[in-house]
Amino acid sequence: MKTWFDTARLGMFVHWGHSSVRGCELSWSLVGGVSSLPYCGNVPVDEYHSTANSFNPQDYNPLEWARLAKRMGVQYAILTAKHHDGFAMFHTQQSDFSIQHSHYKKDIVREFIEAMRSEGIRIGLYFSLIDWHHPDYPAFTEADKPYTFGQWRQPTDSQWQRFIHFMFDQVRELLTNYGKIDLLWFDGAWERTPEQWQATVLHDTIRSLQPEILINDRLPPLGDFSTPEQLIPPQPLQGVWETCMTINDSWGYNCGDTNFKSARQLIHTLCEVAGKGGNLLLNISPMGNGQIQPELLERLVVVENWMARNSESIIGTMPALEPWQFYGPSTRKRDRIYLHLLMKPYETVSVRGVPIKRVKSVSVLADGTRLQYTTRCAIVDTLFSHPDPLGELTIQVPESAIDSYATVIAVDFIPQLNTDLSASNRT
Ligand code: GLC
Repeated sequence: MKTWFDTARLGMFVHWGHSSVRGCELSWSLVGGVSSLPYCGNVPVDEYHSTANSFNPQDYNPLEWARLAKRMGVQYAILTAKHHDGFAMFHTQQSDFSIQHSHYKKDIVREFIEAMRSEGIRIGLYFSLIDWHHPDYPAFTEADKPYTFGQWRQPTDSQWQRFIHFMFDQVRELLTNYGKIDLLWFDGAWERTPEQWQATVLHDTIRSLQPEILINDRLPPLGDFSTPEQLIPPQPLQGVWETCMTINDSWGYNCGDTNFKSARQLIHTLCEVAGKGGNLLLNISPMGNGQIQPELLERLVVVENWMARNSESIIGTMPALEPWQFYGPSTRKRDRIYLHLLMKPYETVSVRGVPIKRVKSVSVLADGTRLQYTTRCAIVDTLFSHPDPLGELTIQVPESAIDSYATVIAVDFIPQLNTDLSASNRT
């Protein structure tokens, strides 16, 4: 089934919780860290939870985030409604461990949804199945450190029954109190079995409440799309996929982590992901006061400006050429292909195995500047006047055409019914 998500290409992930007050990694610092989060640190469990009450992000302005997202071309935004630390960023009747009982009091999830919706951005909610705070989960304690995969303290049967009830009720609240939710992003299923999670029943419940919702693949065995993390898959994945990625090496606001990717790296990642037919879910980590830290904003503004010139080559596109046809990611919309130049060309770039007689024009996407090009094909094709030969297109790329982040060249073809510009799909 085709959905809006298939070609959305850019989403915004927001990892936020009361841990942002301390500036330590969200949830993972309370269990003492994990090797894939090099700046995580180890915060004593009680100390970690102690900022739940004082959390009071007075500068939280989700409309600003929504406007920034909109300007960046973001199609959907996902907020951590509840992360592994169990703190609900929404009003819940199921426990007191929520934003309702903090200094801030207002429903952060509601404010986020309303702001994003007002800018026409689709809504996703992240929900952690793990709950390191709930007594029936059971809660993670200092004695459980170090966090060891496979060695999770298990609940008794009656504890688990109560927990499942609680968890289902929170999911129900999220799916009934806020209107249409476009996407539900589960996480943390690894600590229990699909049977323990009652995965199939949970899926059915979700679909009965929100028939059009998309659900990620982190509540096995079901899922509408796959979710590689922190990397671009070497080969395009089967089916619909989305890779989530942080700008530094932490998910939540972590003042000790300054290992930021450059804006150029983020733009290149976006081009590569789109060229492989996936979506990039780019993470931001608001600080304890509700502001986005300057180092992130700086980069997002560069992405925004680049997208103002080039989003046509990303949003709503399909992958175009095979890797052997062009040295870089390429995307397409109808009879136009977009070549993403992630390295500076030496005078020219070449595209191979394309219908050269139908090349109509070649231009720089950002400003429409026409580029000179030549084409050639095998002599036999010329001699026998092949009506639609495949050949090589060589494009002149002057210094003046080069964008310092990533240059996008648009190649327009004269349309023909049922054409496919990727050579391997031609018969
Ligand atoms: C991991 C982490 C978590 C993060 C998520 C995002 O599963 O546990 O902190 O929210 O990845 O993909």
